[in-house]
Amino acid sequence: MQIFDQKKNLEAFLKSVKIEGKTIGLVPTMGALHQGHLSLVSQSVSENDVTVVSIFVNPTQFNNPNDLDKYPRNFQADIDLLNEVSSEIIVFAPSVNEIYGKNVTSESYDFDGLDKVMEGEFRPRHFEGVGTIVETLLRVVGPNKAYFGEKDFQQLQIIKKIVALKNIGVEIIGCPIERETHGLAMSSRNERLTETTRLKAGFIYNVLETAKDKFGTESANDIKDWVETQFTKNETLDLEYFQIADEDTLTPIKRKQRNMKYRAFIAVYAEEVRLIDNLRLN
Ligand code: PAF
Repeated sequence: MQIFDQKKNLEAFLKSVKIEGKTIGLVPTMGALHQGHLSLVSQSVSENDVTVVSIFVNPTQFNNPNDLDKYPRNFQADIDLLNEVSSEIIVFAPSVNEIYGKNVTSESYDFDGLDKVMEGEFRPRHFEGVGTIVETLLRVVGPNKAYFGEKDFQQLQIIKKIVALKNIGVEIIGCPIERETHGLAMSSRNERLTETTRLKAGFIYNVLETAKDKFGTESANDIKDWVETQFTKNETLDLEYFQIADEDTLTPIKRKQRNMKYRAFIAVYAEEVRLIDNLRLN
């Protein structure tokens, strides 16, 4: 395994990879790797000659400084896990200074409204931060394919938008959510939950599945009311939002229409840890 912390050294290495005509897959991460990340890494390893995994806790996408401070960081454990997938993986683990220099700020983008709802509404400038780091990584690595988990479905759509806006020649691949045995979507933040709460948080997925069952026969408003009532009765989990939206535009549903792909999106607090999830409804 080779680990780079400087853009210029990684670029020089990848230049020779490209000259040899090899394909490159990129898996951007903020570390604290779990099975969800490893499934993206395995997919990239099987589809590309070279896989680059970036590990960088990106400060500009955290609207809450406490969340940034508490974000889990396990660099050596991450390297060990990646080595189990393949010892050929290239890791890019830059410092904040290497990426941003003295100017730790994000770019501005026109996401065509994709950033105005759900995560964007509750986390001001979050997607500008995500866009800035993902665009930087895509430019440094120049991959053929880049892999992102569908747990952050809104992020995935926004990244596709940036690639189109900026005409970046890369294929963005969305990969299915990996879940813990009781249904909780895998996330680095799950590490911050106590074992009891982690088990109880399986409730989020149960609610999404029932919402999906109801979607065939009930109105979106009734489902929303039902979900809100379930969380009012739950003493461990606080609902931040539940929204049913069109999968492509992320526009919240008004009335169900044929031939549209709908998805339910949810954000919940458990012990001050913010958890998100989503599920395709039809
Ligand atoms: O999904 C994440 O872990 C992050 O938002 C990403 C894409 C690595 C950018 O920092």
